[in-house]
Amino acid sequence: MADLSGVLAGLEEQLAVSANLLQDIAIRFQTAMTAGLLGKPSSLKMLPAFVDVPTGQEQGTVVAVDFGGTNVRVLLVELTGEGQAQIIARRSFPLKNKQANYDFTTASASGMQLFDFIAGKIAEIIPTADKTYPLGHTFSFPCRQYAVNEAELISWTKELKTAGVEGENVGQLLQTALERNGIGHVHSLAVINDTTGTLLTSAYKDNTTDIGTICGTGHNSCYLEPVHPLTNQPMIVNMESGNFDQIVQTKYDICLDQDSEKPGGQRLEKMASGHYLGELVRIIVSSLVANGYMNGEVAEPLNIPYFLSTEDLSTMIADHSSGLDAVASVAVGRLGLNELRTSELVALQTIARFVTTRSARLVAATWAGVVFKIDPELKRRHTIAVDGSLYEKMPGYAEYLAQAMKEVLGIGNNQVAIRLSKDGSGIGAAIAAATVYSPH
Ligand code: GLC
Repeated sequence: MADLSGVLAGLEEQLAVSANLLQDIAIRFQTAMTAGLLGKPSSLKMLPAFVDVPTGQEQGTVVAVDFGGTNVRVLLVELTGEGQAQIIARRSFPLKNKQANYDFTTASASGMQLFDFIAGKIAEIIPTADKTYPLGHTFSFPCRQYAVNEAELISWTKELKTAGVEGENVGQLLQTALERNGIGHVHSLAVINDTTGTLLTSAYKDNTTDIGTICGTGHNSCYLEPVHPLTNQPMIVNMESGNFDQIVQTKYDICLDQDSEKPGGQRLEKMASGHYLGELVRIIVSSLVANGYMNGEVAEPLNIPYFLSTEDLSTMIADHSSGLDAVASVAVGRLGLNELRTSELVALQTIARFVTTRSARLVAATWAGVVFKIDPELKRRHTIAVDGSLYEKMPGYAEYLAQAMKEVLGIGNNQVAIRLSKDGSGIGAAIAAATVYSPH
C-alpha cells in the first residue's frame, strides 16, 4: 500500500488555513463588502434587508415560517417584550418524502405546489379564524428586497430547483397561497433571510449583536451596517457570503463544484457548509482509494454523490473509542470500505477533521472581515449570533471558530462574543413581522 501518512500530510497542507491566510481572507472579505455595498463588482451581493435591529419591546402572537432547504418549520411565537420570545407551537415538515410520494425541491414541482404545502401546514397550527395573525417568513435564499415584505428570489441555492419561484415575489406567493387555502386571516408582513432572523433574535435581548450567521446546511452571514448608503440609517445587510470567492480551491473542491447544481457559484458555501462537507470527504476518500492509498474499491456506495453526510463526519470525529468502532461503521455503511486497518480508520477521522476545521476557519476569517469593516479599532463590543446544525452539533466546531477569531483579532478579540441563537432563524421572522406592525 502506498504511503498514506505522506498523503495525509499533503492534504493537511492543502486544507490548512494558517494565521496569515486568515488575515488575508479577512482583508479580502472586507474589500468585497465595501465594493458590494457601493454596487461595484463583488462576489458579495450585500442585499439590503430593510430591517433595523429591534428594541426588545416588540410584542404579540406571530406566525413564523422558516423555510431554508430540507425542511419547512411553522411556529407560533409569543413575543412578550423585555426581550422574551417563546415558541408556543411548532411543527417541522420535510420538503421531500419518498413514502408520502412528494418532493417540492425538484424542477418538476411548482412554486404554487410548494407554497400551498406550506400554507396547509400553517393552517394546522392556527387555532381558529377568530382574529388576524401577523406572519413573518424566513426564506433562506438570496432575495432582492425592495421593502421588508417585497423579496424577489434571485436564484435558488443549496441545490433546490422548484420551478416558477426564481424572479418572483416570495411574500406574495405565500400570501396568495394562504388565501387560496382559506387562511387569508394570516397576513404575511415580512420576508427575511435566516441570517437576519438569527441576528434579530439575539439582538432582541442583547443590543451588542451586529452579526448573524448560519452554519448549517448552507452558510451565510448578515451584519448591521451602521449607515447604509441607501437610507443613511442603520440597516441589516444580507451579504450572501456563501458566494464569497477570494479563497483558493483544492482539486477536490473543484471536483465538487463541477458536479454541483450551479458550478462556479457559492464557493465559500461549498467549502464550509453542512450540505457539502460530507461530499468533500467522500471525494477525497475515493481519490485515495482510486490511487491505492487506502484499501478498497471505488464502487457503490463510495461512488454515490452525497451519500456520506455531514452527520457521518460528526459521528467519526466524536469517536474516541480505542478501536475507532464508529469510524469503522461509517466506513462500512457509508463508504463500503470493509477492510480498513486502524491507520486507515485514523486517516478517515483525520480527513473529516481537516475538512471541518477548514470550514470553521474560513467562516471566522469572514467574521473578522466584517469587524474590520464596521469597527476597525474594535472600540465597541460585538456579538456574533450563530444558528445551524453544523455549529450546534459538530464536535469541536465552535472551538475552532473561537480559536481562529483569537488568532485573527489578537487582543481585540476580547470585544467579540460568539453566541448560539437557538431557533433564531424562525423566531427572528416573528420579530421582523412585529417590528412592522408595532414600528419603533
Ligand atoms: C444559502 C442561501 C442563503 C442562506 C444560507 C443559509 O447560502 O443562499 O440565503 O442564508 O444558505 O441557510
